Amino acid sequence: MEVIIRPDADAAARLAARIIAHDLRANPKLVLGLATGRTMEAVYGRLVRLHHDERLDFSLCQTFNLDEYVGLRAEDPHSYRHYMDEHLFNEVNIDPRNTHLPDGCALDLAEECEAYEALIRRCGGIDLQLLGIGRAGHIGFNEPLSALMSRTRVKALSPRTLAQNAPLFDVATKMPRRAITMGVGTILESRRCLLLATGAEKAEIIAKAVEGPISSMISATALQLHAHCTVIVDEAAAESLAERDYYRWIFDNEPEWTGYRHL
Ligand code: GLP
Repeated sequence: MEVIIRPDADAAARLAARIIAHDLRANPKLVLGLATGRTMEAVYGRLVRLHHDERLDFSLCQTFNLDEYVGLRAEDPHSYRHYMDEHLFNEVNIDPRNTHLPDGCALDLAEECEAYEALIRRCGGIDLQLLGIGRAGHIGFNEPLSALMSRTRVKALSPRTLAQNAPLFDVATKMPRRAITMGVGTILESRRCLLLATGAEKAEIIAKAVEGPISSMISATALQLHAHCTVIVDEAAAESLAERDYYRWIFDNEPEWTGYRHL
């Protein structure tokens, strides 16, 4: 795992966007895993700017989102499809047919989950998976007790997640209690993972995810098993990391890591 500490949330999001842009330029047919949430808005904002200012080209890439609420139609302003259209897809030259999210309104949800997995496989697997982290440590919607080898499936949302995301709904009670999410095993199969967390409210959980024991209670800890996982945090989210001075030293001194400074 690489842990990169940037001075503030803006610099952290900028680096995440630059890494995505770098990989997309190296491989225009990149299969990109995407995440939603407040943290990601800054990353997508940056990618849109890179598209306009530096002609970053999305025309050949494929995207797969981590999750979608069960029961929300694409046009529902609270759906993750709507979030993605608004923050990224409508703003860049991506082919809408190449943008994939699970369909939370599918008649047969189990079949939809299997079809999603099959589509990822058909596209050659995910090259780069962008991840946020919930305050209880979930990646995607892999709530406590998510098997470390789990695949795309329906998960019941935990009370903490419901409390965290309900304010995003105009009527809190409208928030679905279930979601389709890629499994932890699905995420771990991505060739590279990129987790971004900013703000003091993420400090405790980042320390557990990065430095704590691996546990299905905190699905983000499974990223410790991944051979190529980069964690980008701002100073506020890095506050509880025991080894933060070590991570800073590596970033400033190790040739492989100093490469990020030019992005
Ligand atoms: C939701 C998403 C997660 C995301 C999390 C963090 O629960 N399903 O994929 O990581 O939100 O959101 P925020 O960035 O708003 O803290």
